[in-house]
Amino acid sequence: MRVFSGIQATGAKTIGNYIGAMRQYVATQDENEGDAFFCIVDLHSITVEYDPQDLHDRTLDLAALLYAVGLDPDRCTLFCQSHVAAHAEAAWLLSAVTGFGQLGRMTQFKEKGEGREFVSAGLFTYPVLMAGDILLYQTDIVPIGDDQRQHLELSRDVAERFNSRFGETFKVPRAVYPTVGARIMDLQEPTKKMSTTASSEQGRVLVLDPPDTIRKKFRTAVTDSDREIRYLPDEKPGVSNLLEILSVATGSPIPQLEAGYDGKGYGDLKTDVGEAVVELFRPVHERYEELRADEPELRRLLGIGAEKAREASAPTLQQMYDRMGFVRR
Ligand code: AMP
Ligand code: TRP
Repeated sequence: MRVFSGIQATGAKTIGNYIGAMRQYVATQDENEGDAFFCIVDLHSITVEYDPQDLHDRTLDLAALLYAVGLDPDRCTLFCQSHVAAHAEAAWLLSAVTGFGQLGRMTQFKEKGEGREFVSAGLFTYPVLMAGDILLYQTDIVPIGDDQRQHLELSRDVAERFNSRFGETFKVPRAVYPTVGARIMDLQEPTKKMSTTASSEQGRVLVLDPPDTIRKKFRTAVTDSDREIRYLPDEKPGVSNLLEILSVATGSPIPQLEAGYDGKGYGDLKTDVGEAVVELFRPVHERYEELRADEPELRRLLGIGAEKAREASAPTLQQMYDRMGFVRR
């Protein structure tokens, strides 16, 4: 099965990105050896205010991090979106079958654009670029977190509209969400998604935070005035979020964790989650430092990834041009 997913180059990566996305990438790579494509979506990063030097450095940081969490260049294809020109081309072609109205209804566009003095046209057309990313690879499944649900729906609509207007060209992709942790919440405001941009420093845990920072952020996590450790996301969002994170970090199912906290307090839970996450990220930190120190090697690996991605996407792009009536050959 063909797997494709993308992750933004800029913005420090949170435990939400790790649980909602990166961990799933590794799992799908293992299940679909040789057929999984992961893309550092650097072209998406320029749709909001950004710093060129930061984009440059964060791109290499993220590549190192993705290899460090377990993506294996021999078993999957990791590449940068800007290295494969087909992505920008596909976005333009697909803009012909994307509705202005539908783009205007995207909540991410509304949220990211709200209250800003300057809203780029790119922020508006962002989901078209994303649809192209996915459709160029004849993707079956897209591992993503819950916040990308609407964008994935749009990608499916665009595929269907293109297929019916110009003839069967794209596979219509399906999203896969993690069973636990599709939406990791902010530790300080547990009714909101943990996010790189919107969360406070204390509310988000970064994959690369030092161990003591991780422990402290969990120790000061907001819970509720009750005392019971129960998984009830609507009534007890803070505690439930901690249980989800603990479940992922330890591999124990949530009901088993709940039972184990009988007679214990929130303080115990917070300390345990902090410790479990420190252990989860310890090997990632070590591998990251090693990989990040060797920039030429990172560039070499990304170059190989780009080559494979170009090859895999070229036939679909050509087909798009042909079906749309362009005289290209
Ligand atoms: P981004 O860093 O915004 O490009 O997001 C990369 C991936 O991480 C996407 O698949 C998101 O759905 C996922 N993701 C981001 N934040 C969270 C969160 N708080 N919980 C679960 N998944 C998330
Ligand atoms: N929009 C996604 C996000 O912000 C990133 C992304 C871009 C993506 N292209 C994609 C995710 C293709 C999955 C598939 O998280």
